[in-house]
Amino acid sequence: MDSFSASLMKDKREIIIAPTIYKFQNFGEFAQEFSLGKRDLVLTNEFIYKPFMEQYNLECQYVFQEKFGAGEPSEEMITAIFEAIPYDSYDRVVAIGGGAIMDLCKLLGIKRPSTVNNLYFKKDPVVHEKEVIAVPTTCGTGSEVTNISVAIVHEPSGATTKLGLVSDDIIPNKVCLIPDLLKTLPYKPFASSAIDALIHATESYLSPARKTMTSELFSVKAMEIILEGFRRIGENGPDARLDYLEEFVTASLYAGIAFLKAGCATVHGMSFPLGGTYHVPHGESNYALFGKILEIYDEYKPEGELMNFKKLVGRILGCDAKDAIPTLNALLEKVLPLKPLHEYGFKESDIKDFPVSVMENQQRLITNSYVPMTKELMERIYRECF
Ligand SMILES: NC(=O)c1ccc[n+]([C@@H]2O[C@H](COP(=O)([O-])OP(=O)(O)OC[C@H]3O[C@@H](n4cnc5c(N)ncnc54)[C@H](O)[C@@H]3O)[C@@H](O)[C@H]2O)c1
Ligand SMILES: [Fe+2]
Repeated sequence: MDSFSASLMKDKREIIIAPTIYKFQNFGEFAQEFSLGKRDLVLTNEFIYKPFMEQYNLECQYVFQEKFGAGEPSEEMITAIFEAIPYDSYDRVVAIGGGAIMDLCKLLGIKRPSTVNNLYFKKDPVVHEKEVIAVPTTCGTGSEVTNISVAIVHEPSGATTKLGLVSDDIIPNKVCLIPDLLKTLPYKPFASSAIDALIHATESYLSPARKTMTSELFSVKAMEIILEGFRRIGENGPDARLDYLEEFVTASLYAGIAFLKAGCATVHGMSFPLGGTYHVPHGESNYALFGKILEIYDEYKPEGELMNFKKLVGRILGCDAKDAIPTLNALLEKVLPLKPLHEYGFKESDIKDFPVSVMENQQRLITNSYVPMTKELMERIYRECF
C-alpha cells in the first residue's frame, strides 16, 4: 500500500462535510443570494449559460470550458485555461457544469503551480487561496464535495493516464444544488453520470477499511434514491427522470460524501486507463467494468459486506439477495445498454498492459478493493469485458 492510502486508512474520524450546502429553485435565486458580480469567474458551458444565465445580465466573467477543448480535463486544457485567465482577474470561482467543470474550478481556486504536470505528480504544493462555489449540472461525480480533481496527464514515459489530485485544499467552499439546471442534460450523459454515482455509493459501501458508520448511511440513501429512479426509467422510459432530477442530484451529492470518506475502489482504478487512453466518458468507462467486478466479488467473497449489499439491493429492487447482482445488471442494461470494451477502442494487448498501469498509478483506489486485486485478476476482468 502506498503511504498516502495508509494515511487515509489511519484516519478514523467520521465524515467532515467541508462545504456549506444550499439548494435553490433556479440560477436567479442563487445569483442573488451570493451577489454574483464583476470579480466572480464563472466557468460553465455556453449551452448551459444561454438558457439559464444570460437573461440575468450579470457582470461576472463568464468563461466557457469548450473553448479550451472537448471532453474531460487534460494537462493541455488546464494549461490553456491558466494562460487565458489571469490569476488576479477574479476573487471567487463559480463552477456551473458537470464533473469536468467542477474539477477544473478546484484548480482555479489554488495558487498557480509551475506546471500542471508538476501539480499532478505532487512536485508542487496545493495551496488554497480563492473561494470556490460548486454548482453541479450532472448527477454523477459528487465532485462538488470531494477533495479530488481528475485530469488526463502524461506519465514520465509519455503515455497518458487519468490521475486524481487529492488534497483537502481543493474541496469547494460552498455547494449549491439547482435541479432546474439538469433539465437540459441529454439522456446519455445523464444516465452515465447517475450510474457513476451508484458506483460511488457501491464502492464506498464495500470499502473494507475506510468505510464508517456515516459513510454507510450516505451510501445506502444514495443507492435507494438512484435505484428507485432507475426502476422508474426501466418501467416508463428516459423521460421518467425529468420529475426526479432533484432526487438524482441530491443522491449524487450523498454518494460523493460517502466516497470522500470511504474511497472509491477497483471499478474506478481499472476504468482510469480506459478513460485516459481512449477518452471514454468517466461514467461510461466505470459502467463498462462495474457489473463484471460485482460478479467477481460475488465469486470470490459472496458473504460479508457483499451479502449485506445484495440484501440491500434485493430490498430496493424487490428480489432475493441471491438474484440481486443479475437483477441490478439487467436494470442497468435498460437504463444504458452495456458495450464491450473493444467498442471503445480497447485492444487485446491492453488486457496485459492496463493492469500494470493500474498497479503503478491507482494504488489509492485499488487498496479499497472488496477482494484484494492482483494483476492476474484484473487481466481476467478486462478479458471478460473485452
Ligand atoms: N473530483 C471527483 O471527485 C470526481 C469524481 C468522479 C469523476 N470526476 C471527473 O468528472 C468528470 C465527469 O463528470 P460528468 O460525468 O459530470 O461529465 P461531464 O462533466 O463531462 O459532463 C458530461 C456532458 O454533459 C454536458 N452537460 C453537463 N451538464 C449539462 C446540462 N445541464 N445541460 C446540457 N449538457 C450538460 C457536458 O458538457 C458534457 O458534454 C470526469 O472528468 C471525471 O474524471 C471527478
Ligand atoms: Fe466516478
